[in-house]
Amino acid sequence: MTPKITIDGQIVPFEPGETVLDVASRLGHAIPSLCHEPRLKPTGACRMCLVEVQGQRRLQPSCAWKAEDGAVVTTRNDRIDTHRRTLLSMYVADHALDADGLPVDQGGTGNRLRTHVKDLGTGPALEPLTAVRRDRDDSNPYVHFDPASCVVCGACVRYCDEVEAVSAISLIDRGRRTTIGTADQQGLLDSSCELCGGCIAVCPTGAMTEKPALGVPRDPEPTRTTCNFCGVGCQVDIHVRDGRISRVTSPPPGTTVNDGNLCVKGRFAMEFVHHPERLTSPMIRVDGELVPTTWDVALQTAARGLLGVKQRHGADALGFVSSSRCTGEENYLMQKLARAAFGTNNCHQCAAT
Ligand code: SF4
Ligand code: SF4
Ligand code: FES
Repeated sequence: MTPKITIDGQIVPFEPGETVLDVASRLGHAIPSLCHEPRLKPTGACRMCLVEVQGQRRLQPSCAWKAEDGAVVTTRNDRIDTHRRTLLSMYVADHALDADGLPVDQGGTGNRLRTHVKDLGTGPALEPLTAVRRDRDDSNPYVHFDPASCVVCGACVRYCDEVEAVSAISLIDRGRRTTIGTADQQGLLDSSCELCGGCIAVCPTGAMTEKPALGVPRDPEPTRTTCNFCGVGCQVDIHVRDGRISRVTSPPPGTTVNDGNLCVKGRFAMEFVHHPERLTSPMIRVDGELVPTTWDVALQTAARGLLGVKQRHGADALGFVSSSRCTGEENYLMQKLARAAFGTNNCHQCAAT
């Protein structure tokens, strides 16, 4: 028999292994969270997602609490709201704030702490603490870390370990000095870091941010496209500001082939798009000189040249070479063009060597 759980009075079936937060999200009950990230093992570190489970004396972390047959769960009531507001007061007391008293927005991949403070409010005002978490001198060009904005949820460390599998960063020090560091507090360039930026993507406060886009707001409507650095076909969201690419993010986990992940090139190396020497229109050779032209003229010229070679020397005098930077579909079309349109099997792709 399918196991069922009651969430906020609604009886719902669940798959064994699903957490209360998974089932509640499926129902559309938004449970606030900070350290939860679907690609990582739950740790229940931030305590933001606590819910009431009938029969349990204490509130329980919904991100880590596995759904049980017959369990009765409440995701929102006065007791839970009081807990969340008090927790937010504690986070805010030990956090970099802006002029409005809200957690600073560094423009990173989203600041859920700021959103929760705005949506839920805070509890009793607590004496602000001066952040004593030490920073490291890090000249790496891509990943900025602000210890004063960190809530020590450990999501960045878990991503680096469980997904990127390089364990470049770790929780260091103890008590209120606990922060994110590397072995011997070296810069990321001297660590095993691959500059994938995944720690930025999972950070719920913007404490980890793209250095080149520090303080630049995210584009609310980024453009979805395919990364052209290799043939994997990762989907990327391009954020544009003042006509230039300001940052690149991945679509959310579970939605595209790259499952929320990107490599250093896809996330940080899109500057070439604005290089002054980049070709921005097709070119054809006229009297030995390359001159810009339209796509119609360029395609007609190429077709005429290829057909001329075929007529004079036969189809096997032609060869078609495509690139691993093209998508699978583009590579398919290239071999189709060679075989079906020109009648030769002389087609190759650089990844085949
Ligand atoms: S950029 Fe990637 S490899 Fe480097 S610390 Fe962050 S998650 Fe780890
Ligand atoms: S840097 Fe971000 S992800 Fe890492 S522990 Fe701090 S708040 Fe969490
Ligand atoms: S999201 Fe559940 S404890 Fe952090």
